[in-house]
Amino acid sequence: MQIERARELGLCFGVRRALYMAHDAAERHGTLQTLGPLAHNRVLLAELEDHGVHSVDSIDQLAGPAVVISAHGASPDVTALLQGRGLAVVDTTCPNVAAAQRIGANMAREGLAIVIYGDSRHTEVRGLLGWSGENALATLDADSLLQGCPTSTLTRLGIIAQTTQRVEDFTLFAQQVCASLIEHSREIRIINTLCDATRRRQAAAVELARTVDAMVVIGGRTSANTKRLAETCAAIVETHLVESAEELDAEQLRGKRRVGLTAGASTPDASIEHVEALLSRL
Ligand code: F3S
Repeated sequence: MQIERARELGLCFGVRRALYMAHDAAERHGTLQTLGPLAHNRVLLAELEDHGVHSVDSIDQLAGPAVVISAHGASPDVTALLQGRGLAVVDTTCPNVAAAQRIGANMAREGLAIVIYGDSRHTEVRGLLGWSGENALATLDADSLLQGCPTSTLTRLGIIAQTTQRVEDFTLFAQQVCASLIEHSREIRIINTLCDATRRRQAAAVELARTVDAMVVIGGRTSANTKRLAETCAAIVETHLVESAEELDAEQLRGKRRVGLTAGASTPDASIEHVEALLSRL
């Protein structure tokens, strides 16, 4: 079996930076808590636990003295609340997410109603909503936006995206919104807040998936960018999503001549190496 890695895969600079900052802060503070998981990957979270970085789900569970805001960012209300409780805040918000937050906040200040193309339950999107003013909303469905809001509230509109969405999906969404609202609007401003690291991983996965008999996507099942990588590959070729080498069902891949590997932006290098080693033994 020939195994080939996508030319770009695995940990992105935003997650690497967050890990570095969390490790550094853990050394200074002894132990540390993150509000929500630092990244959506079990293996990576277990490694952090070993270094004294623990994840909690709510502000009330925080024991201090320091708390980490994940690479997905948080709303300004949450940060203020943490600081108000006297906690030292280690803000590892990815620079790409921070840029999207600033864009949402600036357009809201200018009086635009902000529409975020994204999953309203995702941590990053909840943070973006907090930055984007009281008229902000998040959706993945242009129809629900058009049916749910009176067009009079959408006369000046700013559209941004959750950083890890697919460019094709965001384009389609923006086209649908424009087509339906342009006659009722004075202004529709679309800002591309998609993350380039995600786009490059997607493009590399597509390129590889077209040339292999099967793809293995390594990453957390709750990781938004990993799920989208798997969906993209599955539309092209047989695809298996695993979080670690232990989950790989080797029998399903036996007999394949060429297998491609890609991994989500929060997948540790060791997970990729373990899967690759297991495949090479087949
Ligand atoms: Fe940042 Fe993109 Fe990674 S938004 S955390 S560089 S996937």
